[in-house]
Amino acid sequence: MKKEELFKIYNDCIMPTYTKTPLVFIKGKGSYLFDIHNRKYLDFFPGWGVGNLGHCHPKVMTAVRDQISKLIFVANNFYHIPQAKLAKELHFWVNFPSRVFFCNSGAEANEAAIKFSRKFGNGRFEIITFRNSFHGRTLGALAATGQDKYKEGFSPLPEGFKTVPFNNLQAVEDALTDKTVAIMLELIQGEGGINVATQDFAKGLRKICDDKKLLLIVDEVQTGIGRTGLMFAWQHYGITPDIITLAKSLAGGLPIGVMIVKKEISQTLGPGSHASTFGGGPVICKAALAVLKAIHKEKLLNKAKMAGEYLITGLSSLKERFPVISDIRGKGLMIGVQLKVEGKAVVECCMEKGLLINCTHDKVLRLMPALSVSKKEIDRALSILGEALEKTEPGA
Ligand SMILES: Cc1ncc(COP(=O)(O)O)c(C=O)c1O
Repeated sequence: MKKEELFKIYNDCIMPTYTKTPLVFIKGKGSYLFDIHNRKYLDFFPGWGVGNLGHCHPKVMTAVRDQISKLIFVANNFYHIPQAKLAKELHFWVNFPSRVFFCNSGAEANEAAIKFSRKFGNGRFEIITFRNSFHGRTLGALAATGQDKYKEGFSPLPEGFKTVPFNNLQAVEDALTDKTVAIMLELIQGEGGINVATQDFAKGLRKICDDKKLLLIVDEVQTGIGRTGLMFAWQHYGITPDIITLAKSLAGGLPIGVMIVKKEISQTLGPGSHASTFGGGPVICKAALAVLKAIHKEKLLNKAKMAGEYLITGLSSLKERFPVISDIRGKGLMIGVQLKVEGKAVVECCMEKGLLINCTHDKVLRLMPALSVSKKEIDRALSILGEALEKTEPGA
């Protein structure tokens, strides 16, 4: 199919809910994507946070092929082995007594956490969330999201969410009422511009939750599965959440969502109280097991940490060369480059030169390469980014 024909079908037949970049990809391998003209792109934002293992990891492909040839679907009123194995493996990584609920996306995992909190609250229903957070597009997750631009036109949203400034414990204290049941946050806000929670803030939230008997919900949809150099971002903070939500990269590119809940409260949702037809299907679970195994076997947590440090060092050199960069922040391989001007032109110039990156919150370049990214690939990305900053002369 020719590009023009493809674009026409998209125009005619697909809802225009995404801002499209005119690239058609046909193949992916590790840190690279290949387009319809067989042009190679170095992908430093694989799948919007889905590609922690890069594109088409061979172990994931084998696991999927193997499972798909045996059994594709099992309804959740029966048992199957991949789901049990994945639950056990997640339990190992979380390292505290817990139970999981499987679904298909980040929004659904957060929706489950919101429903869980309401049931747990038994009359208490308010959830405190944070400015610039992002929790998904379903009505509940959207109501929790602390950015008005995503909410325009969708009123009325479910009530019971209070959004307060991030990294501000006093604001949280001030928002508490006798109806508060939970505090929900990303420890590094992804869509919000790579804003990192401080140690004091995270520890303070845990203390408030303990003192007031609230649930601490940590949305690890983007930060999870090794992205920050540890399996989960909360592990940087010496705290334990009551609920964790996962999605994006867990199944190596296939759709998955998970809510993990502390075991002692997990009976809150009993039979019939929540469900998902496709949640935790055998193919997805086998893919996720392959992802977790690869992270362990290929020592990807340590690699992400080292690669992140290397990338930040290179970006710091760029900051010295280009005063338009005002800040570099993040953990592991979840990195934001704050510009003083809009970053769209830089992203487009990088793309023309064969590097894919993202810009969020207008002025923050977001870099989240595969955890296995090599020094050579980082050097190449830095060189292209430098050329793009020079060429576009943002702010000049
Ligand atoms: C932190 C966070 N939570 C939730 C979501 C929603 O995930 P999904 O698009 O899988 O529904 C996203 C998506 O970007 C996210 O970054």
